[in-house]
Amino acid sequence: MAIGTQLKLLFTAGSLIAASFATPLQRLTDDDDDDNDTPLPVIIWHGLGDNYAADGLHQVGELVDAANPGTLVYYVRMDNNPSKDSQATFLGNVTEQIAKVCADLAADPILSTAPAIDAIGFSQGGQFLRGYVERCNNPPVRNLITFGSQHNGISAFRACAVTDWFCRGAMALLKGNAWSSLAQSRLVPAQYYRNPEEYDKYLDYSNFLADINNERSFKNPKYKANIAKLDNLVLYMFEDDTTVVPKETAWFEEVNGTEITPLRARKLYSEDWIGLRELDRKGGLKFRTAPGDHMQLSEKLLNDTFAEFFGPYKKAGKKAERPVEFMGGGDL
Ligand SMILES: *[C@@H]1O[C@H](CO)[C@@H](O)[C@H](O)[C@H]1NC(C)=O
Ligand SMILES: *[C@@H]1O[C@H](CO)[C@@H](O)[C@H](O)[C@H]1NC(C)=O
Ligand SMILES: *[C@@H]1O[C@H](CO)[C@@H](O)[C@H](O)[C@H]1NC(C)=O
Repeated sequence: MAIGTQLKLLFTAGSLIAASFATPLQRLTDDDDDDNDTPLPVIIWHGLGDNYAADGLHQVGELVDAANPGTLVYYVRMDNNPSKDSQATFLGNVTEQIAKVCADLAADPILSTAPAIDAIGFSQGGQFLRGYVERCNNPPVRNLITFGSQHNGISAFRACAVTDWFCRGAMALLKGNAWSSLAQSRLVPAQYYRNPEEYDKYLDYSNFLADINNERSFKNPKYKANIAKLDNLVLYMFEDDTTVVPKETAWFEEVNGTEITPLRARKLYSEDWIGLRELDRKGGLKFRTAPGDHMQLSEKLLNDTFAEFFGPYKKAGKKAERPVEFMGGGDL
């Protein structure tokens, strides 16, 4: 099984042609308010082995624009050179990578003036965008949708495709060394490695995940506030995911041996370390499944999701508030 998580879109016949039209981007202007029907910009962070210029990713961007014509789609990147951008999915310090995205978005003339943005994270791009929300959130994210992301880490590294020498090199370095400072400062998947059987080591050495999940004794209040501020966090898990171990990490579930603890039964939730409980109580935490293996996305599922969560600011922007009786509903 290949570790690369490039998008495999299951396009139906004829749909590629439909998706290939271009719509001119509309600029968001200073007079944006609730009456403006310009769709919010959408940012997309790709997965391991992929790059921001890849066709599959841009096909998704075209569906985003088709769902709400005039949507500005921005593809997160570490480098303008696609092959360097792809290498950065394996190599780099995730803290520094997120800081770069924070700086890039805050400096972008359109994104930085939007009242909010929506976001799609594919695979590891999902937990990295969550890191963006927790640490910077400027411009602020309204709806964050993650597909097969590793929110509770991975407990095993999968093999690379036979011909992917770059992946194989990076993974060879990881073997037995996930907690080394080399791995934690340079090898991206190591920074969301989380094996419950070595939980103390994880707390000591994890460069990224233990921090953004607020698992250490100091809980960063900003992380919690920023996640609670989202309108929606939509977590897609691939039903037959064989790439991500365990697949339930997409829903923040803890899998220790054969025991699976759902998010709502975890301390992360009951003590609300990162705002997920608050978000859930206002109806903004969505657990969804997608059929198939890792990143096998159907066009229909994408269309439906984009129609539901993206678009103008006012459309979905204020509807997250829920009736009072739900608030008093006690622990779910
Ligand atoms: C990753 O980068 C951050 C920011 O530069 C730094 O503070 C941290 O020590 C680095 N992590 C490792 C494991 O070297
Ligand atoms: C996972 O299970 C092992 C073995 O039962 C146990 O020692 C460990 O504390 C558990 N880890 C967590 C995080 O619950
Ligand atoms: C998805 O949306 C595009 C653009 O609106 C449309 O052409 C295509 O037929 C849709 N596909 C499905 C499977 O609904």
